[in-house]
Amino acid sequence: MNAHIALTPGDGIGPEVVDEARRTLEAVAAKFGHSFAFTEHLLGGCAIDRHGTALPADTLAAAREADAVLLGAVGGPKWDDPQAKVRPEQGLLAIRKELGLYANLRPVRPHPALAALSPLKPERVAGVDFVVVRELTGGLYFGTPKGREQTPQGERAVDTLVYTEGEVRRIVRLAFQLAQQRRKLVTSVDKANVLESSRLWRKVALGVAKEFPDVKLEHQLVDSCAMRLITHAPSFDVIVTENMFGDILTDEAAVLAGSLGLLPSASLGESRRGLYEPIHGSAPDIAGKGIANPTGTILSAALLLRHSLGLETEARAIEAAVQAALDAGQFTADLGPKAPLSTVQMGAAIRERLG
Ligand code: IPM
Ligand code: MG
Repeated sequence: MNAHIALTPGDGIGPEVVDEARRTLEAVAAKFGHSFAFTEHLLGGCAIDRHGTALPADTLAAAREADAVLLGAVGGPKWDDPQAKVRPEQGLLAIRKELGLYANLRPVRPHPALAALSPLKPERVAGVDFVVVRELTGGLYFGTPKGREQTPQGERAVDTLVYTEGEVRRIVRLAFQLAQQRRKLVTSVDKANVLESSRLWRKVALGVAKEFPDVKLEHQLVDSCAMRLITHAPSFDVIVTENMFGDILTDEAAVLAGSLGLLPSASLGESRRGLYEPIHGSAPDIAGKGIANPTGTILSAALLLRHSLGLETEARAIEAAVQAALDAGQFTADLGPKAPLSTVQMGAAIRERLG
């Protein structure tokens, strides 16, 4: 198969981890007889420095044209001034929105070899295998009105949590479809005891559930969901939720896996083209040191093969290689081994095990 993959390494450790994922995709292409063309584009702080905008027009054009986008991370202290007119994160939000990527899939399946790294007791982590389906182009992140204004009483700021029935239906439906291929349980997470948007969410979820009689639907309030993620995580299969709830819950869920550096994500829309990124940030404190964990990005490349290119065998080959590397005790510094591997060594350790 021929495919065009647009790379947006971004800021901080982004370029280091994307490099390892690209090499892994190249190794997969060589092994399975595919041809992947890579192009590289600016997004985030690096784009602000060069072009004054976090998502330059040519980056967006390349992303639209590509079969998939692989992203590192954006942001850093250099661009953190709260008064700044442009922020790196705007680039990430804009590319998700412009490509219509309304569904963010964040699978969480802690590796047994890393159970000891979790701050939770091993018995709370054993058997954890769920995926969070985070709504990505609506809700509190994008609702209007949004902004700040001066009033006689001082400054005032507003963000709006808004959802239409259609926006809720398509994301909940996707969660049910996913659950059908898994353990057939959807947990719809909201704050229906307080928020009107959550009451609409619940009503739509109930309607969608009727289309999927083989899947069980349960509702859970976001605060108690946060608790259950720590106390009873193995009881989840598919969690579906609003943009910001999903943002917060997935950082929490990452703790189960032992390190934020391990978790991949896929952002999908109506077409096959998706955007793939690790769930960690740009980690400016370790950027440029060559010690970042590339595993989350390499696993994101596996999701890219699966969801955008339909290459399931190849995706599994990467996932199995990651598993084998971790089984063999190949760890980067974030996992706290005595002799940590560098970013490049970890990438190589995974590629060696591609089969
Ligand atoms: C994430 C990140 C982003 C988000 C930030 C960087 C805008 O936290 O992908 O989870 O909030 O969506
Ligand atoms: Mg986040």
